[in-house]
Order: sequence, then structure tokens, then C-alpha cells
Amino acid sequence: MKKTIRDFDLNNKKVIIRCDFNVPIKDGAIVDDNRIVQSLTTIKYALEHNAKVILMSHLGRIKEEADKEKNSLKIVSQRLSELLLVPVKFSSTTHGAELESLVNSLKPGDVLLMENTRFEDVPGKKESGNDPELGAYWASLGEIFINDAFGTAHRAHASNVGIASHLPSGLGFLVEKEYNALSVLVEPTHPFVVILGGSKVSDKIGVIENLVKKADKIMIGGGMAYTFLKAKGVNIGKSILDEESLEFCKKMLNEYPDRIVLPVDNLATKEYSNDVPYREVSVNELADDEMGLDIGPKTVELFSSILDTAKMVFWNGPLGVYEFSNFTKGTEQVLSKLVSTSATTILGGGDIVAASSKLGYKDKVSHASTGGGVTLEFMEGKELPGVVSISDK
Ligand code: 3PG
Repeated sequence: MKKTIRDFDLNNKKVIIRCDFNVPIKDGAIVDDNRIVQSLTTIKYALEHNAKVILMSHLGRIKEEADKEKNSLKIVSQRLSELLLVPVKFSSTTHGAELESLVNSLKPGDVLLMENTRFEDVPGKKESGNDPELGAYWASLGEIFINDAFGTAHRAHASNVGIASHLPSGLGFLVEKEYNALSVLVEPTHPFVVILGGSKVSDKIGVIENLVKKADKIMIGGGMAYTFLKAKGVNIGKSILDEESLEFCKKMLNEYPDRIVLPVDNLATKEYSNDVPYREVSVNELADDEMGLDIGPKTVELFSSILDTAKMVFWNGPLGVYEFSNFTKGTEQVLSKLVSTSATTILGGGDIVAASSKLGYKDKVSHASTGGGVTLEFMEGKELPGVVSISDK
């Protein structure tokens, strides 16, 4: 058993809380603040227990200096302040005098958010590479470390695994909540139905291999369906193809022909755009110059009839290009069906959770995870470094 935040006396202590504030940002605004909202329970608990709270998180991926500006956590500190109803101090640096002086000026009940931990990736990938000196330095800023970044628990970075090896550590309430909600997927109730969308099969090979043994049906939509359709010999026109996964798809279809369910129709267009005409067409009838951007009504019917039989459903990835209003229908109609069933329903992955929130279904499912990649690794049965590194009770 791992320690949790409840196992510590936080009074007057500098408590570093690693959160996952990796939220979608568009045109300088937060598109979906779910991950921030879900972090509040732990942060509020620490404040109520008189801690001096130091928050850390990554945002996006920092490969070069130019990535920094659009991935600053400053905007998150403002949103946090609105949600917590207290001022949130912000350190624009991830090491050095400014950060240290802000940390040293904290009083019990104060909150400080440090700039994006991945700013330390340029140069030298120190955060993502779990540089031992960086982990030790960040740990030196606090007295207790709480990891509440469930969405990042599959990464072994300096800001989670690195810090944890230098301080007494525990898990936060969000990690606990995610574990409790997702653990039912380890031995699911049958019929267990999985819905997978998104564009690339290669990102999900591990999870498909794992789930196909556990699930009674895997219904595949989104861009990745076209690699499966192509593997079946269907002409997919200009639809997205994940060439390197073709052989894998053929193998899966050969071994599990009754378990993998593919779309039978789709919405086809000639360009990847919301502003061009589209038509409903069987997947066999796509023209060479057309691409499918959403599942069609017959597929919605097929998927819905399978959902009617389900006792447990896990869904990762939208079924169409949900950013385009013309191609959200498949995702929306299947979500609407999903929440009308009596099954235990779990959504995992940023896109499907954001789509469910935008379309008004998020509060109607049993659990909408804040995790993306981590949810898939959890289901694959992999150990999560961000959790393993936490002190045992
Ligand atoms: C996520 O969004 O899945 C987590 O925040 C981890 O982000 P990463 O895939 O960039 O490591």
C-alpha cells in the first residue's frame, strides 16, 4: 500500500504537489479545465491543513526554445486562482533565485505554481530524462512530496519519480480516485465492450492486444478504422492510413474476426475540412478521391445494438473528427446511446473526455478519467512509475 496525503502532518510544511495541468489551450485560452478542476480536492486539503503549497506540472511538449511561450503555465495559475478563490503566486522560472525566494516567502495557506517543468527539457531533456540533479534540486524546495498527477503517472520524469526519491512521499486524492474507478477494468464485468477511436493504430497496439483478450467486442471508429478496413481489402480512398500498422491489423482481424467490429458506413468528403460537402456512403463505396471523417448512421445503429448488451464499456478516442461540427455526429450519437444504457461506463483519454464535456455527456458516465496514455497503460497492466516511486505505508 502506498502512502497518501492523509498519512502526513502538513502543518506549516512546504508541500510539493505534482499535478497534471496539461490542459488543451487554443488561441491563448484554456479549452477544457477538467484536469485543473480535478486537482482541487488535493490542493484544498493541503491548504486546509495549513501547508505551504508548491505546485508543479508540465504543459505540452518542449522540444525547442520557441515552444516555451505557448506552453507557459501562467494562464493555469490564473484559472487556479479563480477556482480556489485565493491568489496563486507564479514563478516564471523553474530553478534559481526567483523560484527559491518565492518558495521561502510562502506562509501556511499560500499557493505557488512553478512554471512548466518541461522548460527544463531545453537544453538537455533534464525533466523528461529524469536528470538526478534536477530531481534533487526540486526536492530541496519542499519537505513532503505528493504526486497527484495521474495523467503523467506513466512517465518517469524528474518532477515525479525524481523528486519522490528524495522526500517522504504520498499519493493525492485524484490518483486514488482514478485507481478506484479504473480498477474495475482489470477484471471487467461481461459483456465488456470497448470503443476505440483516434487516428493512429500504432499508438494503441499494446492496448488492442491486451483488450482483445478481455473484451467481448471492440468497436473501432475514428481515423484508425481505415487501417483496419484497408487490412480487410476495402478501398479507403484518401482516408488516413497508418501504413506501419497494416500487418498488425490483418493479424488482429484473422485471430479475432468476431470480436473486432468495424464501421459499415461513413461520412465522406473530398477534403479534410468542415466547409466542404459530404455524403453518407457505405465503407465499400468510398471513391478514390474521398476520405471518411465520421462514422455513418448504420454504424451508429450497429454500435448501439452492441451497447444494448453491454454490462461494462470502456471508450478511448472519438469516432470522427469531432473538432469539425459536421463530423461530431457519430461520437455524439454513440455517447447519447452509451449514457442511456445500464452499463458501467468509463471514458479515458483527453479527446473523448473533452468531446463528452462539450456535448454535455461527461457527468452522465460512470467515470471520465483525467488520464490519456496512462489509462491505456493501466489497462495493459503495466506498472506506473509515478505511483511505484511513492513511499510504502
Ligand atoms: C497526457 O496528456 O497524457 C499527460 O499529461 C502526459 O503528457 P505527455 O504524453 O506529453 O507525456
